[in-house]
Amino acid sequence: MTTQGNFPAGPPIVRNTMMQQYRFYKNFLEDPLGKVTEWFGEYGDVIHFNVGENGHQYYIANPEMVREILIKQSDTFIKGPDYSDEEHGLARFMGHGLITSNGDFWKRQRKLVAPAFHTQRISAYADTMVAYGQQTMDRWEDGQALDIDEEMMELTLMIVGRTLFDADASQTASSVKDAVAIIQKASNTATLLPSWVPTPLRIRSKQANKMLDKIIYEFIDERRASGEDQGDLLSMLLLSEDENGERMTNKQARDEAVTLFLAGHETTANTLNWTWWLLAQHPQVEAKLHHEIDTVLQGKTASLEDLRRLPYTDMVIKESMRLMPPAWSIGRVASQDTEVMGYSFPKGTGLSIVIYSLHRNPDVWDNPNDFIPERWTDEKTKDISKYAYIPFSTGPRICIGNSFATMEANLLLATIAQQYQFRLTPNANVVPQPFITIFPKYGLPMTAHKRQPQSTPQPEQALEMA
Ligand code: HEM
Repeated sequence: MTTQGNFPAGPPIVRNTMMQQYRFYKNFLEDPLGKVTEWFGEYGDVIHFNVGENGHQYYIANPEMVREILIKQSDTFIKGPDYSDEEHGLARFMGHGLITSNGDFWKRQRKLVAPAFHTQRISAYADTMVAYGQQTMDRWEDGQALDIDEEMMELTLMIVGRTLFDADASQTASSVKDAVAIIQKASNTATLLPSWVPTPLRIRSKQANKMLDKIIYEFIDERRASGEDQGDLLSMLLLSEDENGERMTNKQARDEAVTLFLAGHETTANTLNWTWWLLAQHPQVEAKLHHEIDTVLQGKTASLEDLRRLPYTDMVIKESMRLMPPAWSIGRVASQDTEVMGYSFPKGTGLSIVIYSLHRNPDVWDNPNDFIPERWTDEKTKDISKYAYIPFSTGPRICIGNSFATMEANLLLATIAQQYQFRLTPNANVVPQPFITIFPKYGLPMTAHKRQPQSTPQPEQALEMA
């Protein structure tokens, strides 16, 4: 590593002592979204820090740089040790699945996992998604106070349990649910304690990991023994072959299954969380959404075919993921010395593409902090760089569950909004907390109000009421 080179400006890190470094990070962790917003506002959309002994770190919210890093130089900018380290990184939960791997191993795994996400395969999951949405609503009553975060998390977990393992996650055990919840909490808890300190959460998450392993290996054994394609993602993972006719080992299948389990529900749950939160604050958007859903569905259950006729529903999801992208930041490390747009990236430089700030970059977006689904009409988006909006990332490592998640979010929004609307409970303290995803730190307390679709006001009326 070197200090020579051309680096953009950024906030100075006082790093003379361990205590000063500790304070800097503690201060950052108290309000990461506030801090990045402040820094990008002050230094522009590419910022640089000196970290450690001659170390470099970039924070990036610039579309052209996104293209360079995630597409043109995607072989140079790889996932760093914070992913693959089995002691401290995501690999301690996910093992060496798609999210945590690099290089040839990742390429082979990506090819093996891809068939599970072919359009035809995932289209078959649409009815499951809608059925679980309905089952969730069957538990609710008009006027009931709910933690929407808990409801969405459970709903998307059930869906991924069914589509991944053809299992009813509620029966395969509340233990799966509990295990995933603990692992998720552990992976979403920032701590400045060294990794060898056995905190109660770390101990519980190790136990949860063991239990989840046991259950998943049982699924794998059963499926191998039967040799059947049950139509779920796991069957596909086990049947898929590389160009030499070889299949994944049990350990690889386990790591990919856990990866999909963890990556495949919290992100979608948070997409829905923030959508309900935004809709509650924008009654005119909500009314327009209701109008579309009521007109198109006419009271019947939503299906995959209906999605084409629900463009505003899709615009609402898109705009919600612009303002509150569940995966708020993508990390990479330079595997060799390189340059991007004239700036130096010595080998080992770490970077975060801060999707949250890219999606609110004032050089790209009009009224960047406002919730305006209408900005997603074809006419209005044609001048916006496709690298300015990347909720699922872009390039070779784009989210493999992209179409699955988009279908799920749209179907669940249409299904639930057809029957319910939500309002924040008075004095609710909703705090977006970014870690791996942006989640509501203290939950999302809302009241569920049953809707009468026929009496939906026209959007113009709602505007008058708002
Ligand atoms: C709204 C929901 C979702 C969002 C916003 C989202 C976002 C992302 C993003 C930004 C990445 C790139 C991360 C990086 O390169 O560092 C990613 C990767 C990935 N996502 Fe998703 N995701 C969602 C849903 C899903 C679902 C439903 C699944 C699977 C069922 C899934 C599985 C994966 C996997 C396996 C990767 C790693 C791909 C690779 O590196 O080859 N995601 N996702």
